[in-house]
Amino acid sequence: MLTQDELKQQVAQAALDYVLPQLQPDSILGVGTGSTVDRFIDLLAAHRQAFHAAVSSSERSTQRLQAAGIRVLDLNDITATALYVDGADEIDHQLNMIKGGGGALTREKIVSSVADRFVCIVDASKLVDQLGGFPLPIEVVPLAREAVAREIRQLGGQPVLRAGFTTDNGNQILDVSGLRYGDPAAFEAMLNNIPGVVCCGLFAISGAHVALVAGQDGVSRLELQDD
Ligand code: A5P
Repeated sequence: MLTQDELKQQVAQAALDYVLPQLQPDSILGVGTGSTVDRFIDLLAAHRQAFHAAVSSSERSTQRLQAAGIRVLDLNDITATALYVDGADEIDHQLNMIKGGGGALTREKIVSSVADRFVCIVDASKLVDQLGGFPLPIEVVPLAREAVAREIRQLGGQPVLRAGFTTDNGNQILDVSGLRYGDPAAFEAMLNNIPGVVCCGLFAISGAHVALVAGQDGVSRLELQDD
């Protein structure tokens, strides 16, 4: 029986195998955040000559990329990336995700938005039929925390402030349990419209294009057809 750590290592290797043939010397790779991505970065280090640079979704990943000898560019200095690789806290079979357990959701949503393909890498415990078991992280402007929390309660959610945590953008996070999403993209749009919400951890308006899922029988690939 493989442990969750071993599955994360396995899917990080699968991500490397997926990404490497697509990299060119001028490629820029979008890199997410989290313990699964940390393993991917560690494996990527040996192949840093195969591509030009990375754009990163957090200070944490930037530091790890740079320590691995990988050049990190500012998102303002690039226009697009072919690929973005990141983990998730939950992913459903339509490749909608809940992200932000590590608190990097806003930059993850921004950096992934300039990528042609979002490659989600998870162990099988993250693959669910229905999103909602994992509390939804919502990044809020500190001034608006209680106003947003009241709106969330109206929607049936129970918001809890992530104590002692400040995002890379200087904001706070509410972790919200009890929400039922129905139509995840519509729910995401509704949350985005609450004043004071910087970003919510639902990635449904724009989900993943490919999911690599590591289970006890190996890594499987879920893929949506391009439009
Ligand atoms: C970071 O903010 C998150 O969105 C991560 O992508 C997510 O929490 C997955 O993290 P792990 O790979 O550590 O499980």
